[in-house]
Amino acid sequence: PRNAAREPDGAVRLAGVDVRELAETYGTPLFVVDENDFKSRCAEHARAFGDPALVHYASKAFLCTEIARWVAEQGLSLDICSGGELAVALRAGFPPERITFHGNNKSVAELEAAVDAGVGTIVLDSFFEIARLADVAARRDVVQAVLVRVTVGVEAHTHEFIATAHEDQKFGFSLASGDAAEAVRRVLNASSLKLVGLHSHIGSQIFDADGFEVAARRVVGLLAELHKEHGDTALESLSTVDLGGGLGIAYTADDDPPPPEFLAEQLRIMVAKECEHEGLEVPRIAVEPGRAIAGPGTVTLYEVGTIKHVELGHGQVRRYVSVDGGMSDNIRTALYDAVYDCRLVSRASDDGGAAEVNAALSRVVGKHCESGDIVVRDSWLPDNLGPGDLLAVAATGAYCYSMASNYNRQPRPAVVAVRDGEARLLLRRETVEDMLYLEAL
Ligand code: LLP
Repeated sequence: PRNAAREPDGAVRLAGVDVRELAETYGTPLFVVDENDFKSRCAEHARAFGDPALVHYASKAFLCTEIARWVAEQGLSLDICSGGELAVALRAGFPPERITFHGNNKSVAELEAAVDAGVGTIVLDSFFEIARLADVAARRDVVQAVLVRVTVGVEAHTHEFIATAHEDQKFGFSLASGDAAEAVRRVLNASSLKLVGLHSHIGSQIFDADGFEVAARRVVGLLAELHKEHGDTALESLSTVDLGGGLGIAYTADDDPPPPEFLAEQLRIMVAKECEHEGLEVPRIAVEPGRAIAGPGTVTLYEVGTIKHVELGHGQVRRYVSVDGGMSDNIRTALYDAVYDCRLVSRASDDGGAAEVNAALSRVVGKHCESGDIVVRDSWLPDNLGPGDLLAVAATGAYCYSMASNYNRQPRPAVVAVRDGEARLLLRRETVEDMLYLEAL
């Protein structure tokens, strides 16, 4: 988080709040969201893309009512992909016209709820869905604005991207096969649907603009073909190219992701150049960052419970540090081999100096019943670490709480927001009663 600082006694303050106080008041594991960090990243994206409404916060990264309010207040739009996310957004009073609804298998009930709520745009993902939504909208006498999701044959990851002719995955309409052009034909033929844009999403945790640029070039290429086929008038309302999410963040000091302005600038240049080449009017460029807004500003606080030294042979020892959460609040290490940074935050290390001094290579593990339950695979933590010490894992704001589970009947952690020396509870800690509430017998 941007507002973290170490006190002379070694304890860390997050936005002016002592982590020991947070642990005392709210318990651990605890997600601590730096509110100003989150909001400033919203504002940075808004500035970079020239209009806050063109930045759709991807709520799958992390959503609760208060987060939806922050996003609304910053003027951003909201990307949702389920009826549940829609319900949270509406509960927060999020302006429905700034909501975009994604997903490869939205139910009829979800489509109906979205149209009834006045959701701004719905991203069409299959031929079945085009017919389904056209019907839902027609029965309500509504003309629903839609985007067509195009699979451009680009797959991007942190430091690499692959541009192929087609992509073997479930989302969108393939550009190469002609399905994307056919989807547009069907949308233009449906009087209850209005085509306002094309959409492409190439991946997540991406560090360079190359993959986005290839995607943008291919989407503009399709746009040009569509104009040739249908003429400018038929496509009058098609004004937006949405290039999805995916901008990466730093999980450790080794990561150096580009700022949003860099990506925005590269995309602007690329799209403008391609449009000029094709003789097209330049569309508005929208994006859907989730991780880059929610990720960096949150830490998870854990309490150390037990420590074990395991002989690895050749005189090597691994120190296992067990904390009171694990794969139920952060499955990313187990699922994606994600790498995190972890620090002792409740005191100084044994020598009273930086926590890195006199450190032992440790593996921070959870309390779940499987050996893959690893939070941080390798972390240098102070020699004299012991039960009761608080550890913080950084950059856990995206895809941790939102992917949390009740594995081993572990209640989900609480989430607090910190700002200017004050803490506020956003989501209370789940209780055993909450889980028993679902028991039908
Ligand atoms: N838009 C669409 C259509 C998406 O599918 C996604 C992410 C985003 C935007 C936001 O992407 P972001 O800016 O956050 O990278 N659970 C995985 C990430 C899955 C992302 C799925 N889609 C993880 O923890 O790394």
